[in-house]
Amino acid sequence: MQRIIVAPSILAADFSRLGDEIHRVGAAGADWIHCDIMDGHFVDNISFGPQIVEVVRKETNLPLDVHLMIQTPDHYAPRFVKAGANSLTVHVEPEARHDVRKTLRAIRDAGCRPGLSLNPATAFESVEPFLHEIDILLIMTVHPGFGGQSFRPEIMGKVKRAAQWNNSHERKIDIEVDGGITADTARLSVENGANVLVAGTSIFHSKDYAKAIRELRGE
Ligand code: DX5
Ligand code: ZN
Repeated sequence: MQRIIVAPSILAADFSRLGDEIHRVGAAGADWIHCDIMDGHFVDNISFGPQIVEVVRKETNLPLDVHLMIQTPDHYAPRFVKAGANSLTVHVEPEARHDVRKTLRAIRDAGCRPGLSLNPATAFESVEPFLHEIDILLIMTVHPGFGGQSFRPEIMGKVKRAAQWNNSHERKIDIEVDGGITADTARLSVENGANVLVAGTSIFHSKDYAKAIRELRGE
């Protein structure tokens, strides 16, 4: 069986002691650190930018999984590469305002793993033309913008489609789910074919990060 990757989203961390939070999830068994970048345009919230990603980079050697919920991600991608991102995921929706294929290529050329994301309302067909060019497909299981929302089980159809794609191709894409991931919804996501679990609230709002991460892995 494939190893499950757990990527805590620092959006739910205590920012007054961010360094300590990153050390704690690292020691608790996190595989990647997920950074949610929001610009107040593509989503109705503003989070943080490359300067904070640079701070995170200094605090950990774990891969930084940067999720750009922003307009014109092509314009900002180089700044996040420079800040230390290992993977950079952009959105496929036209509201993100970029040439998706060109952005994905630029991310790869910069030495980062390119990822593509789709919102709950966006059909799987919209990412299909790009599957050969990405390393990560980030399937939103809530409408992006805020942590702490409820998981939408109807999205599992798209996770299944992505898993079918992996089964019929030599090259494997990481199938990442993001939003409302708890022990229960993690199990459902993994059963449907996800191998990367992003979790904010269920890790950072728990008392025991190691236990929360083990439970997400189904251990
Ligand atoms: C949602 C973000 C998620 C979010 C997950 O817009 O992309 O990464 O922080 O948070 P939880 O796990 O609290 O739903
Ligand atoms: Zn995210």
